Amino acid sequence: MNRLHPDSLIEQQKDEILQGLIEFVRFPSISTDPEHRPPLRACADWLRDRLTSIGIEAELRETGGHPAVVGRSEMHADRPTLLIYGHYDVQPVDPLALWNTDPFEPVLRDGRLFGRGASDNKGQIWAHIQAARLFHMTGTPLPANLVFLIEGEEEIGSPHLTPVVEALAKEYQFTSVIVSDTGMPGPGQPALTNGLRGLAYFEVVLTGANTDLHSGIFGGAVPNPAQALTHMLAACKDPQTGRILIPGFYDDIEPVSEKERVSIAGVPFSDKAFQEQLGLAALEGEEGFSSLERRWIRPTFDINGLTSGFQGEGAKTVIPAEARCKVSMRLVPGQDPDGVEILFRSFLESIRPPSIQMEISVIHGARPYHLDIDHPLVEAGLQALKAGFGVEPVIIREGGSVPIVQTFKQVLGTETLLLGLGLPDDRCHAPNEKFELDNLWAGIRTSVDLLYRLGQG
Ligand code: BES
Ligand code: MN
Repeated sequence: MNRLHPDSLIEQQKDEILQGLIEFVRFPSISTDPEHRPPLRACADWLRDRLTSIGIEAELRETGGHPAVVGRSEMHADRPTLLIYGHYDVQPVDPLALWNTDPFEPVLRDGRLFGRGASDNKGQIWAHIQAARLFHMTGTPLPANLVFLIEGEEEIGSPHLTPVVEALAKEYQFTSVIVSDTGMPGPGQPALTNGLRGLAYFEVVLTGANTDLHSGIFGGAVPNPAQALTHMLAACKDPQTGRILIPGFYDDIEPVSEKERVSIAGVPFSDKAFQEQLGLAALEGEEGFSSLERRWIRPTFDINGLTSGFQGEGAKTVIPAEARCKVSMRLVPGQDPDGVEILFRSFLESIRPPSIQMEISVIHGARPYHLDIDHPLVEAGLQALKAGFGVEPVIIREGGSVPIVQTFKQVLGTETLLLGLGLPDDRCHAPNEKFELDNLWAGIRTSVDLLYRLGQG
C-alpha cells in the first residue's frame, strides 16, 4: 500500500486548510445561548457537507439539544475502527469590549488565528479533519476506519450526547477514541494527556424575608441571606490547609501511583514563572502537593460567581431578600458528580441557619477520566506526537474536563487518547482566543502518523 507523507502536501495545501478553518470559526456557535440556535445548526450543516466532500459520509444526529455531526469513512472489515471526537460549539464572547477584533471575524496575525473557538475546539478538530482530507485527496487508503463525532454541546456539559454514543456502540466496534481538546505545556512541547478532572457545578440560592428590608428598621432581628451564604461558603474550605471541609469529600479518591507522581514531578514547570504570569503575590493550594498536582490530581472547590444586595454606586441601607452563588468542584478519579452532590447538599443543609431557605440546583457535571500510563495507547500516542512535532513529548494530566470522555469508556468500553494542541496562552473561554498555526500543521502530521500506528499497515 502506498503511504501518505503529509509534509509537502501540508505545504501545498496551507491556504486551503486555513480558509476552511476561517469559515468554521466564523459561525457564532455559542451553545449556552438559546438565541444562537440557528448558527449552531448552520455550523453543523456546514461540517456535515465538509466531511462528506472528503469521503467521510456524514449526517446530523438530533439530540434534543444542538445536533451532533456523525461521519464515517468507507468501512473495511480488516481495519480497526477509530472514533475521533471534537466539538463545534464555543463559549460566549463576553466581555466583548476586551476583544481586539471581532470574535467571529477570524484574523490571521503572526502565525496565529484569532477568534472564539479557534483553539477550543475548532482548530484542534480541524487538524484531524484535514488529515482525513489528505488521504482522500491523494487517493491513499486510510489505515483505519474513521468515525467522526463532532458535537454542539460540550461547553454546556454534553447533556444530550450519551444516547448518540449508545447508538454508535451498536453500530461500530471501536478500538480507541482520539480527542484533541486539551493543551500542551508550551510552544514546541507536545503532550499526551492521560487524565482529566471531572466537574460538579451548582447554583445555591438563599432567601430570607419575602422582600428587601430597611437595615435600620429591621436589622438585628432578621436573617441576612448574604451573610448566611458567606458563612456557609467559608465553611466549605479551610483557608490554612486548602482542604475541602465537606464531610466525605475525599473518601473515594483513588490513590495516584508512585510512578505517576514521579512522572508529574518530571514535567518542567516553574512556580515562579506561573505566579508572575498571573500577576499574583503568592500561590496557594492544598498542603502537601505541588502546583501541578493541585491542578491535575487534586479536587477543588471554587466560587465562580457571587451576587446579592446592593451593587450600585454609593450606599443603600438594605438587607437583601436573596443571595446567590455559583460554585464548582473539579473532581478526580474515584469521585463523581452525583456522589458529590449528595455530600454537598447534606453539608449545606446541616449548617443552614433555620431562618434561611435554600435551593440548590445542578448546572452541570462531568466525570473524571484517567488512562493508565502503561496502557499501549500511550506509547502509540507519544510516538505519533513525536512524529508530528519532531520533539519528544511529555505526559501530563489536565485540570479541565471533557465530559463525554468517561462516557466513551463506560459505553464503548474504549480508552481515549488525548492529544491536545492548545497552548496555555490561547485564551480559551477568554477575550482574544487564538490558535497557533504551527500546532495545526503539527496536529495534522500527528493525526496521519497516529492513524498508521493504530491502523492496519
Ligand atoms: N477543551 C476544554 C477542556 C480543557 C481545556 C481541558 C484545556 C484541558 C485543557 C473544554 O472545551 C472545556 O472547556 N470543558 C469545560 C467543561 C464544562 C463546561 C462541562 C470545562 O472544563 O470547564
Ligand atoms: Mn471549552
